[in-house]
Amino acid sequence: MSQHPQQIASIIAIHQDRPGALLPMLHAIQDATGFIPPESIAQIASALNLSSAEVHGVISFYHYFRISAPAPHQIQICCAEACQSMGADRLMQHATAVNSTDFSVHPVYCLGLCANSPAMMIDEQLHARVTTEKFAKLISGLRSAS
Ligand code: FES
Repeated sequence: MSQHPQQIASIIAIHQDRPGALLPMLHAIQDATGFIPPESIAQIASALNLSSAEVHGVISFYHYFRISAPAPHQIQICCAEACQSMGADRLMQHATAVNSTDFSVHPVYCLGLCANSPAMMIDEQLHARVTTEKFAKLISGLRSAS
């Protein structure tokens, strides 16, 4: 069972009688626990008179929702035009090739640092002009901090 069964049960209880409850319920669960524990899907479905397949279908449709615990660090690499022209594709390939449980890598489309591209964000911290060498240094800093 989930690490958060009581928390999830109370979120379900708060939302289940409201119209259009599924999406607000999923958001509340993910906000509280960091993801939608797969074992909670049947509980959510039952509370809303839906099938587990229907709930799973909604979770799969919206890329925002995740069904596994997030990595300790989230890396967002800008893949919009200005960053692409400065090597963001190469940076993204490099970052995704680094197989690590310390972080997960996601594309985003403009971090507001277009003049200093390619841009990247680690958790809430922006980084400009990120080369593969700079990426390696930032990642080793993450590892030594954890
Ligand atoms: S295009 Fe990458 S930060 Fe704007």
